[in-house]
Amino acid sequence: MQTKVVSFSDQAIADATRLILAGHPVAVPTETVYGLAADATSASAVAEIYAAKGRPAFNPLIVHVGNMDDARAIGTFGPAAVTLAEQYWPGPLTIVVPLRADAKIASLTTAGLSTIALRIPDHRAMRALLVSTGLPLAAPSANASGSISPTRADHVLRTLAGKIPMIVDDGPTAGGIESTIVKVERDTIYLLRHGPIIVCNAVTGGGVDIEAPGQLAAHYAPSKPLRLNADTAAADEWHMGFGDVVGTGSLSSSGDLNEAAGRLFDLLHTADLSAAKRIAVASIPDTGLGLAINDRLRRAAVGAR
Ligand code: TXA
Ligand code: MG
Repeated sequence: MQTKVVSFSDQAIADATRLILAGHPVAVPTETVYGLAADATSASAVAEIYAAKGRPAFNPLIVHVGNMDDARAIGTFGPAAVTLAEQYWPGPLTIVVPLRADAKIASLTTAGLSTIALRIPDHRAMRALLVSTGLPLAAPSANASGSISPTRADHVLRTLAGKIPMIVDDGPTAGGIESTIVKVERDTIYLLRHGPIIVCNAVTGGGVDIEAPGQLAAHYAPSKPLRLNADTAAADEWHMGFGDVVGTGSLSSSGDLNEAAGRLFDLLHTADLSAAKRIAVASIPDTGLGLAINDRLRRAAVGAR
């Protein structure tokens, strides 16, 4: 299969729509990372996502919808979930709620769970695709399972070229790090994945991590060893700087965590493709968005080989 890369346009969305209605997955940007989108109501379409990514089938997918009515047709929203949705959607927050018994979602999408992860994204390409297909779209990040998330079309090509029919290219994503995931159970909000949105009243820990099976310790893995908290580096290391630590390239020379989140995956791809034998990353403060950045870096360090 040849993977065509097409710049965002009405024609590109029309072509992508045709592929999705025919049951195939298409890579499309969201405001966080590029997603690999397919019809969430079709088991065979979702199976094509799992096959292209080489993703374990016990790992459920996020379903993207265009509006709150479509979200309510799929999940049960109690008061706490409604408040979150009103505050943060469209945007980089994924809310896990009980799956409605009458929802038309393929059970492969949720890996058989009785809950569903839902998100209204804030990106013109994904939103156009949601409108033109009229379908809920299951979309994990558009990379082979376990590898670095894509923030550009060429990152998608690195692991999925020849495995998917099309990439809608709309330039680098604005956010750069995957959505925050929370699970709402009655009135309690559990944080399942750190991300761009800091939900102040979310509870961490409590063993709920196990319920986001994608949160495996080894994830986002580059192909070479990665060392953390490296404020100096050896000659054979690609040194990712931050703040006063200059490095080979910097996440943010002014020490801005937003800028660092936006560059993280791009620099990981760059370091991975470089001639250096190893990667070293300067220490990043564990506050605010730094929590999400350090979470991804720790998984990258465990998964690196
Ligand atoms: O920003 C994002 O969230 C991107 C864009 C494309 O939307 N998507 C993304 O998807 O990061 P993915 O598949 O790479 O991560 C989805 C995470 C996985 O850790 C999965 O286990 C978890 O969501 N998840 C999905 N459904 C769940 C559920 N019902 N309960 C708990 N965790 C769930
Ligand atoms: Mg992913």
